[in-house]
Amino acid sequence: MDYRAVRGMRDVLPEEIPAWERLESTARRLADLAGYREVRPPLLEETDLFIRSVGEVTDIVEKEMFTVRKADHSFTLRPEGTAGIVRAYVQAGYAKRAPLQKLFTIGPMFRYEKPQKGRERQFTQFDMEAIGSLDPRLDVELIDLAARFFEELGIRGLEVRINSMGDGEDRDRYREAVREFVRPNLARYSEESRARFERNVLRVLDSKHPGDVELNQGAPRILDFLSDENRAHFEAVERHLRSIGRTVVVDPGIVRGLDYYTRTIFELHYPDLGARSALCGGGRYDHLVEELGGPDLAAVGFAIGFTGTLLVLEELGLSEALAADAPPVYVAAADPACDDEVFRLVCELRGAGLGAVFDSAGKKLGKQLKAAGTGGHAVAAILGPDELAGSTVQLKVLDTGEQRSVPRDGAAEAIRGILAARGSGAASGERGGA
Ligand code: HAM
Repeated sequence: MDYRAVRGMRDVLPEEIPAWERLESTARRLADLAGYREVRPPLLEETDLFIRSVGEVTDIVEKEMFTVRKADHSFTLRPEGTAGIVRAYVQAGYAKRAPLQKLFTIGPMFRYEKPQKGRERQFTQFDMEAIGSLDPRLDVELIDLAARFFEELGIRGLEVRINSMGDGEDRDRYREAVREFVRPNLARYSEESRARFERNVLRVLDSKHPGDVELNQGAPRILDFLSDENRAHFEAVERHLRSIGRTVVVDPGIVRGLDYYTRTIFELHYPDLGARSALCGGGRYDHLVEELGGPDLAAVGFAIGFTGTLLVLEELGLSEALAADAPPVYVAAADPACDDEVFRLVCELRGAGLGAVFDSAGKKLGKQLKAAGTGGHAVAAILGPDELAGSTVQLKVLDTGEQRSVPRDGAAEAIRGILAARGSGAASGERGGA
């Protein structure tokens, strides 16, 4: 039987881990800088949570959820992070004790989408959410942090696109205008859009059917319908963006595919990626806390997808230089009779906080030393019969070839000295790298 990973899901192999760690550490550093605390909700939630928040008539809920039924319950692997975070926020009682919460999470999401370049069925998001305030500076803080994430990784040329979804009455008037716009051509729309026309007309604008995309050209723009209050919010966002020097494009074509959005919405695009160029999407969701059983509190957030980000890093040649540091010490046996002692020394060095490895494939000394050199280790510690008899160890600095004998009980200290002299961060056995 030829077992393979489920289609659209993949193994992240050790060679790829340094790039992943770089994304995660960049995300955490930014979150720390801005005072966002980590939250880790479960991967599985009641299906109803996503129907209620993302919306019943959306691609995600209609087509993309991985749902399991057990007894009378229906559970779904989270297709996105916001619903679970808001559910956790309400459940933990933050609304009463400390309503403003700045939270982030990094982890896998699951959508049954057609696997293609940049789209997977299990993918990772870095998700940041500021819950509990309508302050437009938070919209801008999040746009700035999202843009900064890519800049810190060395990715330039991203386009930040913003729009407003309005809220309440202006959205009702807009919905009506879209209905009037679509109605005359309704018969020419796809079956899916015809059904959405009745149930959730704004989602007709998300349609990816080429015929629908064509028909949607010239659809009304919500920006023309904003109430004074929502227009003022949008203008405040634009003003703060200008004041921190962030250039954005107002793009009335952004609709986002999830129902919970209100007011500001935004996407960060890497145009070279083509149709699926969004590396980040987000916006306000000012009624979701209330929808999920909390008080009426506004909120804003975004999610960055790792899949697309890693593709761009690769295209720009920025992931090649990344490699994990090997443990600094390779303990070699000059003779198989020394194997037991080699293993003891490895464990001793680890006990002293020095990363150490040994050969377990029965290689001769020459091959062991070659492996030590190509494996990225800094020092080879060699034990042979003479060393055993004299309670010493030979230490070989692998990049210079310099070799000397040190007392066995001073080996850890001597290795530490060599690593310090080389300026190697691996002295403590810690992982270096980016
Ligand atoms: P979203 O636009 O559905 O928003 O997803 C955000 C990002 O996740 C996308 O821009 C894309 O980079 C990535 N992504 C989405 N689906 C896939 C997939 N199948 N494969 C690979 N990457 C994918 C949300 O998820 C909202 N929860 C964002 C948010 C947070 N809004 C407010 N707070």
